Amino acid sequence: DIQIVLIAILAFVFGSIPFGLLLTRAAGLGDIRSIGSGSIGATNVLRTGNKKLAAATVLLDAAKGALPVVIAGMIYALDGSGQERALAQGVAAVAAVAGHCWTPWLRFKGGKGFATAAGVLLALAWPAMLVCAAIWALTLYLSRISSVSSMTTVVLSPLVAWALGYPQVVWPLVAIAAIVLIQHRANIGRLMRGEEPKVGAKK
Ligand code: G3P
Repeated sequence: DIQIVLIAILAFVFGSIPFGLLLTRAAGLGDIRSIGSGSIGATNVLRTGNKKLAAATVLLDAAKGALPVVIAGMIYALDGSGQERALAQGVAAVAAVAGHCWTPWLRFKGGKGFATAAGVLLALAWPAMLVCAAIWALTLYLSRISSVSSMTTVVLSPLVAWALGYPQVVWPLVAIAAIVLIQHRANIGRLMRGEEPKVGAKK
C-alpha cells in the first residue's frame, strides 16, 4: 500500500546521505572519491589517515540504516499485523542500503553498503548483529582485508538470522547481500588479481 511506498522512499532518502563524502569534505580532505578505492565508505575514509572521521562515518552510515527500520516498526506497531510490520521493516532495510549504494546526489555512485547493512541488522534483529559483528571481527583479523570481511559477513547474515529465529528478516538480508556483493565487483576483481590492499597498508 501507499504507506509502504512512502516508507521505502523515506528509507532511500535517509540512505542516500553520503556521510563519508560530507565529513571528509568538511574536514578539508578533498574529494574522497579520488582517494583509494573511490568509495564513500568508512574503509576508504580510513585511507585519509583520519581514524575519527572513519569511525564517525561508520556510525552515521549505520544510523541512517537503523533509523528508517525503527520508524517503520513504530508505524506498524500502532496499527497493522506482525506480517505487515515485518514487510515494512524489510522494505525500509533494503531501501536504505540501496540509497547508500546508488545515491542520487552523487549520480548514483555511492558506497558499498556494509555499514548501512550493519545498522539495518541492528534494528531488525540485534542478536544476529552481535554474531555478525563477531564474524566480521574474526574474518578481518584473519584476512586483514576489509572487503573480504564485509562480503563474508553479509553473505552469512541471512543464515545467522535464520538460525537465531528471525526467519522474517531473511529475505531483506538476502537482497542486501546481493546489493553489497554487486557493489564489491571492483574489489572482487582486485582480490582475484591479488591487488586488494590490506587495512592500514600505505600506498
Ligand atoms: O565495507 C566496504 C569495504 O568492504 C570495502 O571498501 O574502500 O576497500 O573498497 P573499499
